[in-house]
Amino acid sequence: MEDKNFFDGMNHPANAADLTDAEKKHIPLIGSSDSVKPGEPFEVSVTVGSISHVMEPAHHIQWIELYANENFLARVALTPGFTKAIATLTVVMETTGIVTLKAIERCNIHGLWENTKRIIVG
Ligand SMILES: [Fe+2]
Repeated sequence: MEDKNFFDGMNHPANAADLTDAEKKHIPLIGSSDSVKPGEPFEVSVTVGSISHVMEPAHHIQWIELYANENFLARVALTPGFTKAIATLTVVMETTGIVTLKAIERCNIHGLWENTKRIIVG
């Protein structure tokens, strides 16, 4: 991964079916119910990496953002040495339909990474 400019746009795995350990450390995982009720709050957890990413001053996850479709919901700023790269948010959807949750995280060395999860509101 070292010959790439990680700050040039969004990073994506080279082969989604065969992730490298470095990719596993950066792709955010979205945890939530697959189906929720309109108007009822539900939890969405975003965990950076199926392999835990380090949170050291020299190398860490700076923030995690969550979107619903193209709507910005929240940004959680993280401090290395005191936090883990996990954010749990309480979300409420007022309208019914299929919603794409999108999580984006930024590593201070390896740039932006994203993932999505579709849920049903209804
Ligand atoms: Fe990193």
